[in-house]
Amino acid sequence: MNKPRIYITREIPAKGLELLSRCCDITMHRGKEPPSREDIQINIQGKDGLLCMLTDKIDSEIIKTSDKLKVISSFNVGVDHIDTIEATKRGIYVTYTPGVLTNATADLAFALMMSAARRIAEGDRNVRNGSWRGGWAPNMLLGEGVYGKTLGIIGLGRIGTALAERASGFKMKIVYYNRNRLPNKEKKLNLEYRYLEDLLKESDFISLHVPLTDETHHLIDSQKLKKMKRNAILVNTARGQIVDEDDLADALEGGWISGAGIDVFSSEPLPADNRLSQLKNVVLTPHIGSATYHTRNLMCEISAMNLLGVLKGENPHYLFNIEVMKVRSLDSIKMI
Ligand code: NAP
Ligand code: GLV
Repeated sequence: MNKPRIYITREIPAKGLELLSRCCDITMHRGKEPPSREDIQINIQGKDGLLCMLTDKIDSEIIKTSDKLKVISSFNVGVDHIDTIEATKRGIYVTYTPGVLTNATADLAFALMMSAARRIAEGDRNVRNGSWRGGWAPNMLLGEGVYGKTLGIIGLGRIGTALAERASGFKMKIVYYNRNRLPNKEKKLNLEYRYLEDLLKESDFISLHVPLTDETHHLIDSQKLKKMKRNAILVNTARGQIVDEDDLADALEGGWISGAGIDVFSSEPLPADNRLSQLKNVVLTPHIGSATYHTRNLMCEISAMNLLGVLKGENPHYLFNIEVMKVRSLDSIKMI
């Protein structure tokens, strides 16, 4: 039997590459920049598997270019960059890496919260650029405290829950909004459910942990920002498009809220002229939620195992579009 042919859209850690190269013929994109749309379109042709990143837009047109594709294994958890409906229709298995990046991302959300509240990035800039004059001063760089404050979590899934666990150590009152109420978690973690509007009015910190979907696109806009407290801090480690960025810049400029910590943007990398980067009261990180050595190695191993699992005709551990099994059986895919 011929080896399966796969396309990997970025250089991945050695462990995953080793696993894949044992049984697949690999074409791997090299270089710091992601492949262009044309690169993907060309390289996906004739391939049985695709190992892609969240930076690759795998829409229906791309999916249709490859008549052989059996599995799309994404090296991340959010699958908003993949047309999963088209993939399912065509019997293509879509896999992802939930869970292993939960702690790293929740850590970053908490770090952004602390950093925005205590103006850490702004202070760091002042120390470096010489604008710190006169030493200690009673009114210099005053911020908000975190301990004992109210945290509103929007989206109480894996990462939202991990953030709640961290916040309970800071004796925060934790309220949450999720499309389904989660009574077991409420009891276990001492959380209170709120309608979205109530959460916005009550919280000192608001952290977003919903996936990007049609319903969550611009979930936070000027109308919602105006409902928040004037001392509120918004944290977004979910997806940029969940927040209307222009409205957020208006809110930060106009003092409707006091600050923000943002890891994800509607256009990445953030264009140099984006209004957010001109503002002092926002801490910006370049989409590094899962960026720890340990987590990225696990993500690599899991995305390799997911891809191999499907091509071996075995149940992959992390299948996103479970309905695909009704369209094409794993038995009929088995080629390793
Ligand atoms: P998850 O476990 O699936 O949690 C998502 C939660 O959002 C679920 O509880 C879900 O509720 C809820 N939800 C979905 N749609 C909703 C809606 N319209 N209104 C209210 N609640 C809704 O996902 P996760 O692993 O925590 O990851 C969340 C997101 O974080 C990912 O999708 C990804 O975009 C982002 N992320 C970013 C980074 C980074 O590097 N910054 C790293 C990892 C993840 P149900 O259970 O009822 O559906
Ligand atoms: C990161 O944003 C992910 O979806 O894993």
